[in-house]
This record gives sequence, structure tokens and C-alpha cells, in this order.
Amino acid sequence: MALDLFCPVKLGSISLKNRMVMAPLTRNRAGEGGVPLAMNVKYYEQRASAGLIITEATPISPMAHGYPALPGIYTPEQVAGWKKVTDAVHAKGGKIFIQLWHVGRISHPSLLNGETPVAPSAIKPVGQAFTYTGMQDFVTPRTLEKKELPGIVNDYVHAAKCAMEAGFDGVEVHSANGYLLDQFLRDGSNVRADEYGGSFENRARLLMQVLEAVVNTIGADKTGVRLSPVNPFNDMHDSNPQALFNYVVGELNKFNLAYLHVIEGDVGGNAVNFDFVTLRKLFNGAYITNLGYDKARGNAAIASGHADCVAYGVPFIANPDLVERYRIDAPLNQADQNTFYGGNEKGYTDYPFLSR
Ligand code: PHB
Repeated sequence: MALDLFCPVKLGSISLKNRMVMAPLTRNRAGEGGVPLAMNVKYYEQRASAGLIITEATPISPMAHGYPALPGIYTPEQVAGWKKVTDAVHAKGGKIFIQLWHVGRISHPSLLNGETPVAPSAIKPVGQAFTYTGMQDFVTPRTLEKKELPGIVNDYVHAAKCAMEAGFDGVEVHSANGYLLDQFLRDGSNVRADEYGGSFENRARLLMQVLEAVVNTIGADKTGVRLSPVNPFNDMHDSNPQALFNYVVGELNKFNLAYLHVIEGDVGGNAVNFDFVTLRKLFNGAYITNLGYDKARGNAAIASGHADCVAYGVPFIANPDLVERYRIDAPLNQADQNTFYGGNEKGYTDYPFLSR
């Protein structure tokens, strides 16, 4: 019989009971000081039947924040809050990675104690930041000096250590969707003239330094990475994404990572010109695909060998028991977009399970 979503799999040293991954989802419901709250514990615990949960993107330092009410993973209080999440997920037999995030230029001084957001180059993204007082125009970011970059690498290392203390099974380095590491990769946001800009090797340097440092700290088998080669979200573009990301994946092969997680397209739903089959074949480890999958397409991606796992976002918001619903072809709850970002338990922990 062909492999499907419900077959177990190993990612690095982590055994998953099925191949359905809960994608990282920003929900803007953390407490004061970026500390996870009881409702955050309940939300993740409810979804522990996923083969793997990848948490919402989580800032690694105060300068890494770009939206209101995000959790963090750099203070002892945050670690203690996340420990309750990982304990609850593990008690239900689940596995959970935390997504490590620096937003770079996708922020606003009002979210950074008045500081200017930082980026590879001083290029203002088109659009607006989501702040505590509503939407506000993005500002021109400050160019990170070369001598500041080891400090950013150290922030990832510190966050990875905090993640281990908090009981996570691993970390996913967020290098997608127009945030800091992706801003370095793509030439629409990186025009540096030093060894962090220009060639593919230079633009990928910070990502590789972060991965090397994180891998050396917690182990390659606990480290994954997420890429979004052609997602234009956050005003991103590149002059030659296929060649750039083929190069990046070749470099990732040196680490023996737990997995590569790829957003295969444009989150806005526009057609893209990119060969993800070739990209996947270039990678020598486990591959998680994401973007708009349903059960049939997920099973097909696994049966064909294209992917080892499939990440589902919106379906997991609305269906804490998505795995069981797919297993028995039960109808799905529909997600309410109005409660995606911020608020309380409504639209967060109150989506019904199938009645037993
Ligand atoms: C968001 O908060 O809108 C967001 C966060 C992280 C992503 C994508 C979107 O990777």
C-alpha cells in the first residue's frame, strides 16, 4: 500500500505518529512580556494529535518583534510559559518544534521601544505594520552593520537554548515570508556591498551562519528550516529565485537537518513560475510541503514521494482534531478569519471537536 498522511515517519531523531504537521500560525494572543498564557497551552494541547506542531513564529529578541502580543523565547518567564505548552502537548503524545523568528524590517518603532527596525539594506517595504494602535506605514529600516551580525547569530543560539530548556523537541529557523533571513536571501531587499550581499553565497551567508550555530548548539536532528522561494508577501521579490533557492538547498545539505519546510507558492494565490519538484529533489533530507493542501492532495504528495509530511495551517485553526476528521472523512469546521489575529478564546480554543 502507498504511504499516506496517516503513516508514521521520522524527522531527524523525532518519531512522528502521522505526517500531518500543524503549520506555524501567528495568533497574537500571548501575555505581558511575551509570556504564553493558559489559553495558549490549551490551544496547542487541543491540537496534539498532529504528527508535529510547529508553533507560531516566535521572536528571539526584543528587536525581533513585529506584531502585537507575540510570545517570545528569550526570557526565563517565556521559557516557563512555553514549558507548560510542551508538557501539555507531550502528555497528549504530541511532538512540538518552536519557530524561531526575527522580523527584520517588518516592524515599527512603536513595537521596538522606539528603535528603528533593522534589515540587510535600508529599503522600506511597501505596506503597513500591524501595531498596538492599528495599521501604520512601514518606516525605512536601519542597515545592520557587519559587526552586528554575530550578535544576531547569538540571539538565535540563545533562543535555541531557551527552546531546549522549555522542552521543545526542536526548532524551525524561519527563513521565509519576507522576514529577516529571507530579506538577506532575496535581492529585492538586499543590496549590500559586503560579503552578506551580491552573490548567492553572500546572501545566504547569514542563514548558513545561523544554522551552523544552532546545529552546533542543539543538534542537526533537532533543527529544521522554512523557506518560501516565491512568496511575494511583505513586498518580497528576487531576480532569479530558482537559481538562488537551488543554491540554498544545496548548502542546506551540508547540515543533515531534521527537515526542510517549503511554502510552495504565493500565499495570495497567484500563479508562480518555479519548479518545486526540482528543488525537493536537490534536498537530501526530509521535506515538509505547505500551501493550500487538502487531504487528497496531501496524500498524493506523500504517495508520489514529493513530500514526507504536509503542513496544514487554516484547517488546524478551525479543527483541533483535523487528523481524526481526515482519517474518517468527517466534515470540517470552517475558520473565522475575523478571529485569526488577536482577541481571546473565541475563534482560538472554542472550535468544536467531533462528538464522540
Ligand atoms: C503574520 O503574522 O502575518 C505572519 C507571521 C509569520 C509569517 C507569515 C505571516 O511567516
